[in-house]
Amino acid sequence: MKRIDFYQLADEAARARDMAYAPYSGFTVGAALLTADEKIYLGANIENASYTPTCCAERVAFFKAVSDGYRNKSDFKAIAVAGGKTGETKTCKCPPCGVCRQVMNEFCDPDSFLIVLKDEKDELEAHALSELLPLGFKM
Ligand code: THU
Repeated sequence: MKRIDFYQLADEAARARDMAYAPYSGFTVGAALLTADEKIYLGANIENASYTPTCCAERVAFFKAVSDGYRNKSDFKAIAVAGGKTGETKTCKCPPCGVCRQVMNEFCDPDSFLIVLKDEKDELEAHALSELLPLGFKM
């Protein structure tokens, strides 16, 4: 099986930005979610004139995977996120919002699931979900 590395995953996230629908904020985000069986689900942010229905790129990627049947905490390995102004290829560091972190907490093991970001110098960094969402809500 082909092993996806985090550099590839970050590239996929950057490419997914092209699919964003972001006429209101002018800020496009792409996400690339890696499953344990090495499949990549892409997501891009989808905005709405009424603003509240806007869905972040990370949640689009997760909901695609979950609706395809991925349910176990061990199903998800990592998500790369890239964002920036519409039309600009340069990404800025784009850590997931709190709502997306909580969605990740629903489906992932917070200590092993990794969030992959490019920093300002284009270097990769990876954070465990438990680092970005301490004391995430669980029922
Ligand atoms: N956005 C994401 O897609 N992911 C995040 O984690 C933060 C924000 C989107 C939502 C909105 O379309 C735009 O970025 C500006 O907030």
